[in-house]
Amino acid sequence: MTSQPPKDHWTHEAYSASASFVPELASKVVGWLDPHPEDTILDLGCGDGLLTAKIKGRCASVTGFDSSSNLLEAARRNYGSIPNLSWYVQDCRYLEHCRDVRDGAYSKVFSNAALHWILRDASTRVSVFRAAFRALKPGGELVFEMGGAGNVAEVHAALLAAVVHQGAGIDAAREASPWFFPSEELMKRILGKVGFMVEKSELEYRPTRLTTEKEGGIEGWARLMGAQILDTLPSPEQREAAVREVCDVLKTILTHEEDGNMWLGYVRLRFHARKP
Ligand SMILES: C[S@@+](CC[C@H](N)C(=O)[O-])C[C@H]1O[C@@H](n2cnc3c(N)ncnc32)[C@H](O)[C@@H]1O
Repeated sequence: MTSQPPKDHWTHEAYSASASFVPELASKVVGWLDPHPEDTILDLGCGDGLLTAKIKGRCASVTGFDSSSNLLEAARRNYGSIPNLSWYVQDCRYLEHCRDVRDGAYSKVFSNAALHWILRDASTRVSVFRAAFRALKPGGELVFEMGGAGNVAEVHAALLAAVVHQGAGIDAAREASPWFFPSEELMKRILGKVGFMVEKSELEYRPTRLTTEKEGGIEGWARLMGAQILDTLPSPEQREAAVREVCDVLKTILTHEEDGNMWLGYVRLRFHARKP
């Protein structure tokens, strides 16, 4: 199956400035992954490879897939010399048709903070998990963390409202919204349909401190993560005005009086499932 790859709005610089906490806060899901020296792992939506390389330090091999050539370029630059660590540019919505995924070759499939992007389209959702299922050996494990129901709701709503105020239609804005934030229940149903046995799952409200304003803060976050929503506006001036509105509206909502920092309402959905 062919399709247009998504526009690459990611850069290593913007990701480290505005979202460096994403791989740093992955210790719980990596604990669930529990990499062993004999493990062969597939990492879906591996980004700039920081977390992927850390996992490789504890197992036999890791193969990272990501749709962003920019981020994978950084991964190759920084971790290219590590043996048995490989990278493929791949839109994971179409993983089922990807020849670089070997059937039954992996002991674990992993993903951190990427499946809410990859599963955005209802039409390819089940197929992504079918591909993961096929890639796993019998008894293999699927371990992931992603945004769950209610994730970053305040900035999501502010982004939608801001582009509508600049003239975008609400339907176009909703359509451009790049995320799928499911409940635990819905995810269990999807995994069950594919044949996975869910061993453990949880939905956790985890307010997350943004980087400082100087590093990127809410403005950098909105520009990077909300790029597809902002792109519903045709002119740079309209997009700038929308970013300003998001920052102005959220200023007091996100700022904690006790420490002066800005915190976003992250909700994490974690799953540990097994191929029988
Ligand atoms: C927030 S980053 C997480 C990166 C990494 N897993 C980490 O923990 O730092 C989300 C990643 O999902 C990737 N992504 C989004 N949509 C994708 C798709 N359709 N196929 C593959 N990767 C995708 C992005 O390119 C980005 O690298």
